Amino acid sequence: MVFESKHPLVKHKLTLLRHVATEPKKFRELVRELAMLLCYEATADLGVNEISVPTPMGTAVGSELHDKIGLIPVLRAGLGMVDGIWEMMPSAEVWHIGLYRDEETLKPVSYYNKLPTSPTVEVCLVLDPMLATGGSAVATIDILKKWGAKRIKYVGILAAPEGIAALHGAHPDVAIHIAHIDSHLNEIGYIVPGLGDAGDRQFGTA
Ligand code: PRP
Ligand code: URA
Repeated sequence: MVFESKHPLVKHKLTLLRHVATEPKKFRELVRELAMLLCYEATADLGVNEISVPTPMGTAVGSELHDKIGLIPVLRAGLGMVDGIWEMMPSAEVWHIGLYRDEETLKPVSYYNKLPTSPTVEVCLVLDPMLATGGSAVATIDILKKWGAKRIKYVGILAAPEGIAALHGAHPDVAIHIAHIDSHLNEIGYIVPGLGDAGDRQFGTA
């Protein structure tokens, strides 16, 4: 399942994010806001338990989230997607996965993983703004499934069709929530028209 956002706010903020003149401070703000909007869409089918709460006027029947949520940012660029989502779901756990893409082979290289031996969450939201070849997303989800994660969703900002095909091919059970699917990858594996290097643009390291 691939969900490309139709939300006008997402479209508006994505356009600002892409602009070559958007500087790191504004870029980080937009990544944070887009992550919150996309997470809102991605979590629309989460289960709830019915609970009652006392109000000043009586008792209201309400809901609480049924599942323990794990936020899984892929370092580095996924870091900027955590804070806004975490504010909305403060009881979520955050488990970082460190991967970088080898510039020659475009294959992901793993360098950080401190997951405990068995899963502590029921739903994992993988956070990474860029789905290019799909190698990093597939590797991250391989790690999560080996850990024992049962329900995984991918939340990203931009995807290439190649990345969507790779992720869907390897993990057809993982829903892909994305702001926009772009045209193609260029010869060095960058999304076109894309936004450039999402890590460098957030951290000012271009
Ligand atoms: C970027 C991005 C993804 C990956 C996508 O990270 O944040 O993790 O590339 O490419 P893929 O779909 O072809 O695997 P990068 O390797 O540049 O690392 P960084 O975030 O640390 O800069
Ligand atoms: N990683 C990025 O940050 N941008 C791309 O276009 C591809 C991979």
